[in-house]
Amino acid sequence: MATEPAAHSAPSLRRDRQHAMYQRALKSLPGGTDSNFRAWGDSTIYVDRGKGGLVWDIDGNEYVDLRMGYGPVILGHGDARVDDYVNERMRQGVSFSLTSEDEVRAMELVKELTGWVDMARMTVSGTEATMHAMRVARAYTGREKIVKFEGQYHGVHDYALISVAPDNMAELGSEDAPTALAWGRGIPGAVADTIIPARYNRIERLRRLFEERGHEIAAVIVEPVLGNAQGIMPRPGFHKEMRALTEEFGILLIFDEVKTGFRFARGGAAEYFGITPDLATFAKAMGNGYPAAAFGGRAEIMAMLPDKVSHGGTYAGNRVAAAAAVATLQIIRDTNALETIHATGRTIQDGLKEILDPVGIPYRFTGHPSMFGIMFREEEATEYRDWATTDHELYDAIAVGMHARGAMPEPDSREPWFMCEAHADADIIDRVLTAFSESVDAALEARAHGGVHVTPHGGMAAPGGD
Ligand SMILES: Cc1ncc(COP(=O)(O)O)c(C=O)c1O
Repeated sequence: MATEPAAHSAPSLRRDRQHAMYQRALKSLPGGTDSNFRAWGDSTIYVDRGKGGLVWDIDGNEYVDLRMGYGPVILGHGDARVDDYVNERMRQGVSFSLTSEDEVRAMELVKELTGWVDMARMTVSGTEATMHAMRVARAYTGREKIVKFEGQYHGVHDYALISVAPDNMAELGSEDAPTALAWGRGIPGAVADTIIPARYNRIERLRRLFEERGHEIAAVIVEPVLGNAQGIMPRPGFHKEMRALTEEFGILLIFDEVKTGFRFARGGAAEYFGITPDLATFAKAMGNGYPAAAFGGRAEIMAMLPDKVSHGGTYAGNRVAAAAAVATLQIIRDTNALETIHATGRTIQDGLKEILDPVGIPYRFTGHPSMFGIMFREEEATEYRDWATTDHELYDAIAVGMHARGAMPEPDSREPWFMCEAHADADIIDRVLTAFSESVDAALEARAHGGVHVTPHGGMAAPGGD
């Protein structure tokens, strides 16, 4: 990827302290950071603080935060309603490896908000939630294979890192016979062999797969929308047909609601699409940024715990996470936070439309107003492979341009923009639209002068990649 700055007279960000921090961090943290997804080379951002919908880096640059920590911060940074409750509860001690009422209340709220989860357990991360849901499904069915869709991200355990986010679609294998592509080294072949990759939105192919191998398949795990590929949506009826098909073949349906849960609707994407899965995983929005996560589902399946399936964790249900989940889920249940978030997303989309329509570049909004992507492509995308045919170089240039103009989307088109309650402020919306408009002009001008140049490569950078 090119590293020259855009030709347009882009305002520049202060970077002195971050450059120094990057050099310092490189000596202690591989890539200068704790996650490959934040390893943006010399453009790595070092954060100072956040408040509401805003975030400041250590050089004092202020941005409207459109990443919101990859989705968890649903209300806003430093939300006093959540933080005060967490602070009050944590003064009683945080980690006992004993069970507190906070945990019980948190899982009662998960049940109440979803309306279909009978039993649930807390984990610390979405990764652990999907790992345990997959294990429970294998144990319950006595089958070993899990179907996962290309371009879907379910965390960083070995079983999840298959066919996730290559830049080159050829690596996924042929359209008729997708191959299990491990993301990075170190994933045992025997583990990869338990995952059967499939193409999203292709119900007939799924039927053929079930007819051939249904007896081996424990579960289908699905992000209800491709939340890690611009929020590509299901075709009308896809989820209902997949639900019927899984039932027909005795295969469990796991909704990975780590991004969509308590965001698309109080009952998550299951409520939004009118589906009752067998199991689901939750994280992100359930704790407004605190490390709260859970997996849960039908009583009969969750009854595999505690005797037949292993699940544990020193920090599972720790006081901080459980209290954060209680406070956040109560706010989602009792206030119109979600309605506000959805309305804000629609207002921003209307503004983006006003900017983009006169420019004449083909584009599509993907996803849900609370979590949407902007895809530069004529036709609606229906699966991950379509991402390759979008003008994502243009998108990335616009996203990077927005950073310099005080708004921070992920500088990788695969990651959607995340709305939080605090974004509803008119000034924030205005700043996002102004930054976007100027960045579109700058990127198109740069392109007219010989190319779009992008500085950082963010988001789903391959381990060890650029
Ligand atoms: C759909 C989905 N599942 C699982 C995960 C993993 O969650 P965590 O990062 O908390 O391990 C993510 C993270 O982005 C996700 O988007």
